Parts: sequence; structure tokens; C-alpha cells
Amino acid sequence: MQKVLVIGGAGFIGSFIARALVERKIDVTIFDSFYQYLPKLVPDENKILAQENRFKDIEGKIKVIRGNAANYGEVRRAIEEQDPDCIIHLAGLPLANKSNIYIEESLEGVKATGCILQVIKDTGKKIKFIYTSSSTVYGDFVYQPADEDHPKNPRGVYAGVKLAGEHITSSFCRQFNISYVIIRPSGVYGPTDINERVVQKFIENAIEGKEIVVKDPTNMIDFTYVKDLAEGYALAVIKEEANNETFNITCGQGRTLGELAEIIKKHFPKTKLKIDEADKDLPRRGGLSIERAKKKLGYVPKYPLEKGIEEYIVYYKRNVRK
Ligand SMILES: NC(=O)c1ccc[n+]([C@@H]2O[C@H](COP(=O)([O-])OP(=O)(O)OC[C@H]3O[C@@H](n4cnc5c(N)ncnc54)[C@H](O)[C@@H]3O)[C@@H](O)[C@H]2O)c1
Repeated sequence: MQKVLVIGGAGFIGSFIARALVERKIDVTIFDSFYQYLPKLVPDENKILAQENRFKDIEGKIKVIRGNAANYGEVRRAIEEQDPDCIIHLAGLPLANKSNIYIEESLEGVKATGCILQVIKDTGKKIKFIYTSSSTVYGDFVYQPADEDHPKNPRGVYAGVKLAGEHITSSFCRQFNISYVIIRPSGVYGPTDINERVVQKFIENAIEGKEIVVKDPTNMIDFTYVKDLAEGYALAVIKEEANNETFNITCGQGRTLGELAEIIKKHFPKTKLKIDEADKDLPRRGGLSIERAKKKLGYVPKYPLEKGIEEYIVYYKRNVRK
């Protein structure tokens, strides 16, 4: 594999994938609209800093193109100019709670998936397509660890959009003979995330001396350190065995919100924990099976939750202005 176009690649996960590919001497171009999902009237210095930090060490080693993944002309121009062997698609509104509010914006993700695939078909180039789904497609887990064949009962706009994208990907690629991979991440956390997901919120509250509000300490998530996920993507790019398969790429271990809070409290012992009711909009999740990724890709996650949190906190201590 020589050249990869990472669509939605200027974001949190995309930046780590770009680094994992650059480390393997693969040419990387990022195509991104630079959307903000949690706008603030007054700019947030720490968020700006996080975005600056994303590409600091690989800035000169990648190309960046601004564009909308749902705009056929912009995607076509990028693909014709860059001539990639593989496209990784991460673009879309990445937050389940916001997707239930900004429904049309969330549905743009479906349009983007169709648009990228149409360009691949129309250009006639041999390009492998990697689609980013989510473990939310399973809905409330009926067993765990949930393997890729677990029933799909998505709840909420975000999960529905992700599953629709999976179907568009597999049906379209089968019809037009395009190699594809579908990746289902879960609970991704790590440096430079600015979307205020649970791990980021807990750590920032602890740093600022605020209490951590744990909504249902028994709720379980397969928290995945972003470097593990990025390795999984790199393997999916390189390995032929990945083609036309769907993979859970996670830590492979369900951990409760209560455990997460306690791990963070060990680093910030004065932090107070407040227990609250479960967020009813979120499905009951758990651990995922990563056996298929282990077997076909040789994927081995290296960051149990304790280790990932430790590294994430070191990042905060070195980088945050507050
Ligand atoms: N973080 C998680 O826990 C998690 C879990 C499962 C799946 N995912 C998926 O991974 C992907 C990346 O998530 P992230 O956490 O890095 O989010 P992020 O917000 O940091 O990155 C998303 C990037 O996509 C870009 N983008 C959005 N719409 C676009 C469009 N139409 N055209 C071009 N660029 C566009 C944004 O500008 C942003 O840079 C998303 O698809 C998300 O749904 C994330």
C-alpha cells in the first residue's frame, strides 16, 4: 500500500491513524471539512491547543485538503489528484447525543459514504475503502463479549446512520467489485479528543478539582485507547485478509463507568465522585470480542484501561494550559 486518503482525518482518531501510517512509510493525505460540533461563543484555548497538538510531530509528512465528503465534486477532485490505493472514511457527526438533535447533519454521514463510493466507482480506480462504523450498531447488548454477528438493534440516529453506512458500503462494494473493510470501534479515548466524551470529561473535572458525575456506575463500555485503534486501522489498510470483512477493533474488555472513575481518582485522590441515574438515551453495552481481528489481522491491543488513562493523564500534565 503506497498512498492513503483519510477522509475526516483532521479529527482525533484520524490524526492517530495518520501517524500510524506515516510510521509505516505510507503516504498520507487528509481530506477534512474542519467542522466543530461543540461550538463556544468564546474560543476555548485548550481545544485550540489540542487541535494544534494533533499533527505537531508529523506536520511536514502529510498533505491536507479542505473539503466536504458529501460533495461529489470535491471528493472527485481529491481522489483524482491524490490517486490513493486506499481511502479511510471517518467523516460524520461523531456524537450520539448531538445526532439525536442535529438529525439532518447526522444524515450527511450517509450521503458522504454514498458519495465517496460513487467517486471510487466512477473513476474506475482500484481503491480499497475502509468504513468507520461503531459498536452502537449492536444496540443493547444481548450477550457479551459481543462478536461481529451479535444482533444489530441500533437505537438513536447516530447508530442508525452508522448501520446504514455499513449496508451502503457492503452492498455497493459487492455490486461494483470494490474491496472494503468495516471497522466498529468503541469508547475511544486519548490525547487531543475535544468532543467531551466521558473519559475526557472525567479527567478534566479531576484536573480542575471538580466532582466526577458517574451516570450509572455499573454501565459497561469497551474503552479503547486511540493508539490501539489506530494500529487496527493500519493493519486493515495493509492486510489483504481484511478485505470484505467487518471487525470490532477495541480493547476487548468491558469496564464499568465506576471502574473508570476509580482509576482516575487514583491519579487525583481528592476527587469526589457523585453517582447519578443512567443516561436513558444510551444503550446498555459491554465488552466486544476481538477474536476475528486477532486472527485475521494479527491485532493485539496494548493498552488496558489503566495504562491508557495513565498515558492520557501524562499528556494533560505536559500540554494543558489551564
Ligand atoms: N470516538 C469514539 O469513541 C468513536 C467510536 C466509534 C466510532 N467513531 C467514529 O470515528 C469517526 C471519527 O471520530 P473522532 O472521534 O475522531 O471525531 P472528530 O470530531 O475528532 O473527527 C471527525 C472529523 O471528521 C470531519 N468531518 C465531519 N464531517 C465531514 C464531512 N462531511 N466532510 C469532511 N470532513 C468531515 C470533522 O471536521 C472532523 O475533523 C467518526 O465517524 C465517529 O463516528 C468514534
